[in-house]
Amino acid sequence: ALLHDELAGDEVLVVSNREPYIHSRSDKGIEVRRPASGLVTAVEPVMRACSGTWIAHGAGNADREVVDAHDRVRVPPKNPSYTLRRVWLTEQEEKGYYYGFANEGLWPLCHIAHVRPVFRSSDWDQYVEVNQRFADAVVAEARTEDPVVLVQDYHFALLPRMVREKLPRATIIMFWHIPWPNPESFGICPWREEILEGLLGNTLLGFHTPFHCKNFLETVDRYLETRIEHEASTISYGGDLTQVEPYPISIAWPEGPYPESIAESRASVRAELGLPRNLLMGIGVDRLDYTKGILERLQAVERMMELHPSMVGRFSFVQIAAPSRSSLEEYQALENRVRALAQRINLRFGQSGVNPIVLKVEHYDSDQVSRYYRAADVCMVTSLHDGMNLVAKEFIAARDDELGVLILSQFTGAARELHEALIINPYHIEQGADALYRALTMPEAEQRERMRSMRSLVRDFNVYRWAGRMLLDAARLRRRERISAKLR
Ligand code: G6P
Repeated sequence: ALLHDELAGDEVLVVSNREPYIHSRSDKGIEVRRPASGLVTAVEPVMRACSGTWIAHGAGNADREVVDAHDRVRVPPKNPSYTLRRVWLTEQEEKGYYYGFANEGLWPLCHIAHVRPVFRSSDWDQYVEVNQRFADAVVAEARTEDPVVLVQDYHFALLPRMVREKLPRATIIMFWHIPWPNPESFGICPWREEILEGLLGNTLLGFHTPFHCKNFLETVDRYLETRIEHEASTISYGGDLTQVEPYPISIAWPEGPYPESIAESRASVRAELGLPRNLLMGIGVDRLDYTKGILERLQAVERMMELHPSMVGRFSFVQIAAPSRSSLEEYQALENRVRALAQRINLRFGQSGVNPIVLKVEHYDSDQVSRYYRAADVCMVTSLHDGMNLVAKEFIAARDDELGVLILSQFTGAARELHEALIINPYHIEQGADALYRALTMPEAEQRERMRSMRSLVRDFNVYRWAGRMLLDAARLRRRERISAKLR
């Protein structure tokens, strides 16, 4: 309801690289898949609520078969409520813009995860080109001269200014779903000024935490000639005004009821993995990405078994790792290292059919993932750096029995909100091991107390609030702009 009020009568366009539905062809015909993406998890419920048009890269091999002559398809497939407009990229564009500049340049640059960013001129050229193509798609799709354009993430740093040039009266709201580093770190990007100028085409620019906003303001201050009002958190640059604000992202609270009770999920998940019924179980769910601290997590499991031999044969850690960006070398190397580490730990501590690590390098759909959350005794989120991390919030939301323990890295945005989790430094393996043992032996009363307080927070600060607050602020800026346009 809040969203409808904020947007009353306005046209809404969303731009993101990743599409919410991927159509692909198999022997069984055309299948639809949801990608493993924090961004899609968050933005999709918002789009369902406010209709409009979502512009994204068509990445599935059957994506072209289901669109109309304007490359549009109504989604979700089962209950169409908004339009997905697909943009097609050539292999070369995808290589330079997505794999190259976005994921070998900006991704490691912003995450400070000790993977060196790679900057190539040829990637940059494609990044500029693809940003222009998406900006053109926004302009082509817009039916009014003042739409609300919601731009998502680091793939589109240049697009806001490009859209602003063609649609000067648009309200452009951008959310940066990953961290923003400090000025020194960001400064190694050879095109830092261009990126900052592009972002200052926004009316409103959102980050997960106040700390990322502060880093952004300081970065702009360091590298561009602008006027910054720190109190008001605004930047004026070449006649444009950009408001910078924190909006911690969240999830849609599950509607339930679940198809299985907690007891049923505990039993069925263990049976499906060939594990004993009464086994203690940990769960990790991530894209197979070097920012997620998967190696550190497995090492913590190993260390816990070293310190507490009584846990050997009584505990398994199940890691679901969705393959991601796997044509990049860093990602292939990570997969090899994770597999090798899991194997080594299992050789060392595997006992009578119980492996300490169960590794699934596969895509699981969200219903399956929530069954696993419900079957687990503990969930480990050990990102080395993460804008928010929605797995932490999904785990909490899935636990309507108010049991289960969350171990959470201090380097996630989520740790700013979920104080009742066991907060750890994932680089400190002993600390992870201690937290794991503490979680596995925590009395139910304490689990319940922690879970209750985290559940009420996630229920209240859900993704509709996230979007609602951004749109409310945008509506205010829009009114101000209309008034000053009248005065001019
Ligand atoms: C993060 C990014 C998203 C991205 C997702 C999945 O959550 O912030 O923009 O969609 O990872 O990554 P992928 O490269 O598969 O889209």
